[in-house]
Amino acid sequence: MNIQALLSDKVTQALVAAGAPADSEALVRQSAKAQFGDYQANGVMGAAKKLGLPPRQLAEKVVAALDLEGIASKVEIAGPGFINIFLAPQWLAANLESALQDARLGVAPVRPQTIVVDYSAPNVAKEMHIGHIRSTIIGDAAVRTLEFLGHNVIRANHVGDWGTQFGMLIAYLEKVQNENAADMDLSDLEAFYREAKKNYDEDPVFAERARGYVVKLQGGDPYCREMWRKLVDITMTQNQKTYDRLNVTLTKDDVMGESLYNSMLPGIVADLKAKGLATEDEGAVVVYLDEFKNKEGEPMGVIIQKKDGGYLYTTTDIACAKYRYETLGADRVLYYIDSRQHQHLMQAWTIVRKAGYVPDSVSLEHHMFGMMLGKDGKPFKTRAGGTIKLSDLLDEAIERAGQLVRGKNPDISGAELETLINAVAIGSVKYADLSKSRTTDYVFDWDNMLAFEGNTAPYMQYAYTRVSSIFKRAGIDENALSGDIVLTEEKELALAARLLQFEETITTVAREGTPHVMCAYLYDLAGLFSGFYEACPILTAETEGQRNSRLKLAALTAKTLKLGLDTLGIETVARM
Ligand code: ARG
Repeated sequence: MNIQALLSDKVTQALVAAGAPADSEALVRQSAKAQFGDYQANGVMGAAKKLGLPPRQLAEKVVAALDLEGIASKVEIAGPGFINIFLAPQWLAANLESALQDARLGVAPVRPQTIVVDYSAPNVAKEMHIGHIRSTIIGDAAVRTLEFLGHNVIRANHVGDWGTQFGMLIAYLEKVQNENAADMDLSDLEAFYREAKKNYDEDPVFAERARGYVVKLQGGDPYCREMWRKLVDITMTQNQKTYDRLNVTLTKDDVMGESLYNSMLPGIVADLKAKGLATEDEGAVVVYLDEFKNKEGEPMGVIIQKKDGGYLYTTTDIACAKYRYETLGADRVLYYIDSRQHQHLMQAWTIVRKAGYVPDSVSLEHHMFGMMLGKDGKPFKTRAGGTIKLSDLLDEAIERAGQLVRGKNPDISGAELETLINAVAIGSVKYADLSKSRTTDYVFDWDNMLAFEGNTAPYMQYAYTRVSSIFKRAGIDENALSGDIVLTEEKELALAARLLQFEETITTVAREGTPHVMCAYLYDLAGLFSGFYEACPILTAETEGQRNSRLKLAALTAKTLKLGLDTLGIETVARM
């Protein structure tokens, strides 16, 4: 049930019936305070302005035309012309019942779209570092959310698997293989890359060989292709371990790296030239864009082919967007890339639109995010100043969560303890990232993310086990509850309305790619449940009917918390 959408329709109809133009916006929002009802429609003021009417006068007409029979128990006009809507307890109860009986908790199926989600995108022969973590974690939450709603989601891991650095990497792999063919240890990719670069910089013979390999690789030479494949495989096998540890849904099949587009690039450049969009400039091929100005205020030139014939990151992203529309049939493409690449994407897409590669009906969206900072407000680094490896970070999370969980749960041991520690550790790292508005920089702080208080993974996981333990303690099957839901207490009504806002919450997350909206909702829901639990005894309720009704509220709360956390990729446990 999407209450916000339902009320928007109703209020829009009433606005039109009251004489407002057909495109009037109802602007229905969840009310910030209980005294203003459950929802507020704020669209009367704008419509009144267009009509030249006093807003309260229009509001009265709208309320008279508003048909919320059976849905609302009260509708009032407040302030300059706000309409406050109070939902009817019986209506809430009936919708809670249907949600409880539905595996989707009452969330209506959507018109399925094909949505490509570009996320994670580490680089070959480089360790995945924390710069990739936000993309991986937030992107995966978006993927889970869209899939739950019923969309056809294509995960696109735009791995950096092409470029001139491969000459030196192949040459170095060859050297390593020759030196110790038996057991080649490439577990430390960072060191591998560093050594390859060192050889390239210091050994002219090596450098010459490396340059030769670049040309051969581009030409499809079988030996170089095979060596390249090895490098990609080694890297992605390692990354897969991280994905699995992180409970991220990416697999090897989702790799659609830069190399995929390489063969398309000459055609793109030729086409952009033929369309008059690209011009030769001192040997390079450049697209001048009026939309972007350089320091001198002149149209900015975007190079798509270098003087030496090489292509650029932008050229690849142009081909990539075209491919995602043409070949993958995307209706929407979401890119989870840090905000520093915004201009790059905007330039690539401006060219894509001008060339007519992707129609305006298909949206290309940069779901950008800020940087991960240390407690000192500077980019998050190791004590020695190096970049932090994701795998080391997760090891530390397990270590810290282990101490915490062991201290709090002395009665849990063995495999159950391991599972719990893992859920808290990985959950904390992910939730800390997911719960912040993604566009801002975010401060990585162990103490905050592992706290059992506040909007954190441990708190949410604990809230879930607390609700579900009510059933276990009383030996009640939460899936076989009887009786009707009857809402009388203020705390029951508040919890009920919030439970039914799951659909509008997930719809927002799907539209805007903002998992923090789901985190905030779940956190609020957990808080409302606590308030309800304190004020309204469940197992010791006065009547059998009241007890059953409250058990149903508790059951739906547990299911909603679980489903919500699932869509974020956060694991729950039975007890903690
Ligand atoms: N590999 C790139 C990096 O590490 C990110 C790629 C993002 N996706 C894209 N279509 N450009 O910065």
